[in-house]
Amino acid sequence: MKLLAANSNLPLARAIADYLETPLTKASVRRFADEEVFVEVNENVRGEDVFVIQSTSFPTNDNLMELLICIDALKRASAKRITAVIPYFGYARQDRKPGPRTPISAKLVANIITTAGADRVLTMDLHAGQIQGFFDIPTDNLWAAPVMAADIQARHAGKKLMVVSPDVGGVVRARSLAKRLDNAPLAIVDKRREAAGESEVMNIIGEVEGHCCILIDDIVDSGGTLCNAAAALMDQGAANVLAYCSHGVLSGAAEARVNASVLTELVVTDSIYREGLTDGSKIRRLTIAPMFGEAIHRIADESSVSSLFD
Ligand code: R5P
Repeated sequence: MKLLAANSNLPLARAIADYLETPLTKASVRRFADEEVFVEVNENVRGEDVFVIQSTSFPTNDNLMELLICIDALKRASAKRITAVIPYFGYARQDRKPGPRTPISAKLVANIITTAGADRVLTMDLHAGQIQGFFDIPTDNLWAAPVMAADIQARHAGKKLMVVSPDVGGVVRARSLAKRLDNAPLAIVDKRREAAGESEVMNIIGEVEGHCCILIDDIVDSGGTLCNAAAALMDQGAANVLAYCSHGVLSGAAEARVNASVLTELVVTDSIYREGLTDGSKIRRLTIAPMFGEAIHRIADESSVSSLFD
């Protein structure tokens, strides 16, 4: 097995390599003066089972091109099988046409990755599970829920926990976390805009009063969804609100927004690399390196990946 890291999340790639006790393959993924991507693999990979680790996070298009060009280099170097390990799959939110004459970019990106020569994909918490079907190659979609549940149990055992989905679309994810927390009760934030131009109303479905509410979402981008949901939960009498998110996109002023919110803490995984958080930040990182390391080990070993979640 060989592990190749492009540049979007080197700390995670190194942590996965440490878990697998396998050094990263010597390679150079760099830019020409005009910013074109160039890849040179400096070890023989002929006949090897190669895993390319690259999140397609911001700058999404550059990171996607690095992934594609790594795959092309490996293909042309006669790697036996290439797995695109994409802890965060960018463009996932464009998974349907929101209106006429709009693209389904998640499908286009899946096509491009396949065309580049990937034989399989390993990713985590796709925005919608159906995106697996956008790839015509085997695709394993891992879940961060077990890692989150272990963290919650270690830090919040004994509290009156309630898992909350910040929107109706996230109920399945929230239920799966609640099950792992000894069937904690569930609440749902139902956002509605009664008429165009009117402000959004948040209805909470569930009795949150006195509970330690745990919001769970796949992505935190601007932070608006979580911060607004947390405020609505506190208005309904929640004891406190914290949030767990698989992918900390955290664009623009998201971190400041979270720090200024009523959230006591936001926990994100390290699927997306981010340089140091500010001192006293409410954001904490949870590593998914062992989970990815184990999944890679099992894929290479041709053993079950789903049993990781039993
Ligand atoms: C939406 O369907 C996603 O699950 C997230 O709730 C959304 O992307 C979060 O975005 P933001 O942090 O900008 O509200």
